[in-house]
Amino acid sequence: MTINDLIKQLIYSFNNNDKESFINFAREYIEREKRMKHNQAAKELEKALFDKQPQDNLFAERRFKNSLPIPRDCEKGFPLLEIKNYNENMENLILNIKAKEKLEQIIREFKDNDILSTYNLSYKKKILLCGKPGTGKTFTAHIISSILQLPLIYIRFDSIISSYLGETAANLRKVFEFIENGTWIVLFDEFDIIGKNRDDIHEHGEIKRVVNNFLQMLDNFNGLSIIFAATNHQNILDPAIWRRFDDVIFYELPDENTRYKLFEKYIKQIKRDKTIDLNELAQKSDKLSPSDIKMICEEAMKISIIYSHNCLSMSDISLALNKFIEREQIKDKYSGANYERI
Ligand SMILES: Nc1ncnc2c1ncn2[C@@H]1O[C@H](COP(=O)(O)OP(=O)(O)OP(=O)(O)O)[C@@H](O)[C@H]1O
Ligand SMILES: [Mg+2]
Repeated sequence: MTINDLIKQLIYSFNNNDKESFINFAREYIEREKRMKHNQAAKELEKALFDKQPQDNLFAERRFKNSLPIPRDCEKGFPLLEIKNYNENMENLILNIKAKEKLEQIIREFKDNDILSTYNLSYKKKILLCGKPGTGKTFTAHIISSILQLPLIYIRFDSIISSYLGETAANLRKVFEFIENGTWIVLFDEFDIIGKNRDDIHEHGEIKRVVNNFLQMLDNFNGLSIIFAATNHQNILDPAIWRRFDDVIFYELPDENTRYKLFEKYIKQIKRDKTIDLNELAQKSDKLSPSDIKMICEEAMKISIIYSHNCLSMSDISLALNKFIEREQIKDKYSGANYERI
């Protein structure tokens, strides 16, 4: 059998749900690898075929309990949501204490649902995440999904809205029906598109209906999932939207102390020399977001590696920082932003 035939047979048996044939063909493939002395590859394939991955299986189990197919846009047929699994931990998220405490409480409430429900209380299910770009809103949803071992349903709001207007309300309904059929962490990302459109006189009346629909669906939501909605334009969201949420978490730009921790975290994986002064970096990086700091550290590490410097030095980071500032200045100039970052 040629390699192509073998892979074809593997795919057929997968599609036909024929587990026995699948395993036989996979075994044949592994034997082939062994004959070609690809021992490492054969070992890894054997492991993949027979070892169970506890966390993935748990995710998969919960996911496949949901019998509905992934909802799709009626006209164009593209999926309205994505299901993703993450493996992050809370220590990776560097936030001020207030925000961190709120997140810890959301997690504890979910875990202690049994006790809460005996008092007729429910865990928080609708949470608004607000704050500047790159401060960790989307990342937070990844982390909560990892900690609670629930898959993340990711919904980019514009993909629902930008389809044919007549279909948008139907799309939303399909998304909510899907969510209510399982237990997930749900993220309506870039949720501000709703706020932006709500009072815009140029917008079609249809959009307003969709906004109201969304708010109603959020109100009526009775599932077990935790729904996050993230925005970086919280100032234009009207009070009607705020009231719908059980909690609101603000993501501030990091203060000096937090910036110190971020630099420390993001250069941790590389050997550094004595010139590195984290205090100085923290002072120099006022108004930068965690995501900016991460990008600068990655750039500095790459500079250090490709130019074969023995260790990461302060001059590598300064170079990366200056490149970043230059890029931001160009961006601000051409995008008309009138604030100074540093
Ligand atoms: N508070 C933080 N602590 C540690 N790392 C962070 C933090 N915030 C952001 N990062 C890093 O920056 C990346 C991008 O952040 P993220 O996508 O969560 O920002 P966001 O707030 O959702 O931004 P936007 O408003 O543009 O969507 C994250 O994946 C993470 O690696
Ligand atoms: Mg985001």
